[in-house]
Amino acid sequence: NLIMGSTQTIGVLVPNLANPFFSMFIKGIQQASQSHHFVPIIFDANQNQKLQSMYIEELIKRAANGLIIASATLDANDIDRILTRNGIPYLLFDQNDAQIGDRVWVDDYKGGQMAANYLLAKGHRRIALVVGENITHNIQQRISGFRAGMAKYRLTLTDDMVVQTSMTKLGGYEATSEVISKKPTAVFCINDEMAIGLYRGVQERGLKIPDDLSIMGYDDIDLANFITPKLTSIHQPAFEMGQVATDLLIERLNNPKLAHQDKQLPLELITRDSVKSIQ
Ligand code: RIB
Repeated sequence: NLIMGSTQTIGVLVPNLANPFFSMFIKGIQQASQSHHFVPIIFDANQNQKLQSMYIEELIKRAANGLIIASATLDANDIDRILTRNGIPYLLFDQNDAQIGDRVWVDDYKGGQMAANYLLAKGHRRIALVVGENITHNIQQRISGFRAGMAKYRLTLTDDMVVQTSMTKLGGYEATSEVISKKPTAVFCINDEMAIGLYRGVQERGLKIPDDLSIMGYDDIDLANFITPKLTSIHQPAFEMGQVATDLLIERLNNPKLAHQDKQLPLELITRDSVKSIQ
């Protein structure tokens, strides 16, 4: 890397490349990298600790200049130990939001509250929550915010209204029977991917969204606007998150003594057609 003219590299680890949320994040990383003459090297290592450790080791061997880690397979302290020992700056993000080092983040607690407020304002009281099996810190915040939103209406999200499945379209699809058995009027899916899978399951059973069941997602991936009915969601600025993460990391590479950097990006409620007003 010290050879003049060689391109500098940033290693990127995400949990799931098949999820458009992470594709947009990577697009943002790519764009910001390009303007600084860096190239990203991207890996997806969800739930596979061996694979993730192997990728990190490889990135170290190949002398990556810095790392952006969004998957939470390895604990933040382990990452810190490995990378600091090797003198490699890194930035933890999203599922790996451990508040160590530079930070790019959104207020997931507030995002959860926004979702709850919207569904409650539409008159929903019996609400089911669809979450992943592996609850990372950011998702935990999202759920806590949602609970707090319900508590303001003196409502409690009881455990029997929570369905756990994998955070994919298939996961959402497979959760359909369990979700329906809870007889909710609305369902909040912790990401859009699961909401899209649930759509298919619900529609296959002859139920209409939102007339028979309202569904809300989170992320606002591009697909949200191309399914029927269009999905109401909380927008995460994934592209910008990737850009800012890259900018911060490169600044850190250029100036290791820089004070701790913290950038919060906004979330936005995007109302479309998947939630019915029932008052
Ligand atoms: O869809 C992927 C989800 O997991 C997003 O909501 C993101 O924040 C991540 O943690």
